[in-house]
Amino acid sequence: MIAKKIIRMTTVDSWDCFNMNLEILSKSSQATIDLGKKFSKILRGGDIIIFSGELGGGKTTFISGLANGLEIKENLSSPSFTILNQYNAGKLKLVHIDFYRLDGIDEFDNIGIDDHIYDDSAIVCIEWGEKIRQYIKKDYLNISFNYIIEGEESINKRIIRFNSSSNYWDKKLNILKKLLAREDIQNT
Ligand SMILES: Nc1ncnc2c1ncn2[C@@H]1O[C@H](COP(=O)(O)OP(=O)(O)OP(=O)(O)O)[C@@H](O)[C@H]1O
Ligand SMILES: [Mg+2]
Repeated sequence: MIAKKIIRMTTVDSWDCFNMNLEILSKSSQATIDLGKKFSKILRGGDIIIFSGELGGGKTTFISGLANGLEIKENLSSPSFTILNQYNAGKLKLVHIDFYRLDGIDEFDNIGIDDHIYDDSAIVCIEWGEKIRQYIKKDYLNISFNYIIEGEESINKRIIRFNSSSNYWDKKLNILKKLLAREDIQNT
């Protein structure tokens, strides 16, 4: 069972506002993995997701659930040192990038990031991706992970925020919202 609850869901008037936010409280690593798995169902090749937030917030945990949802059998390891890992997912591939240790666009250029970001067969997940936000000339989704320090067992609580700034991602988030709502009903 997924121990999570949608605590707030806001849209600003209509699709055209390009401003859909979805906030989810995760109460365990497993809940975050399950959320990543569910999220994978709305993805297709060419999608770019930027992951931000606190150290140890759960970005890699979420992406491992996402990989699982894409039927990737390998264990997803953090690419902190390798910077970029690729996994085959049928006709698609998952590209997992971690920019924690990188600074400056020169370093980004050196790893040939554009070849991946603009690959229509790749789902691209970029941890600490806010560092290259301004260089991405395509719609992307931001997902941020933050701790909640309150009450018992807050060590395992995370607030996960999905922020769209495009019509494309607004629509996808709305589908995700429906998937999660269906699941909440099944779990009650
Ligand atoms: N609700 C939760 N969601 C995600 N991870 C959780 C949660 N509760 C506890 N954890 C633990 O927090 C840690 C999150 O580590 P993870 O590597 O996924 O974070 P990260 O955001 O990728 O970190 P970094 O910034 O170092 O890349 C894991 O040890 C995980 O088990
Ligand atoms: Mg990580």
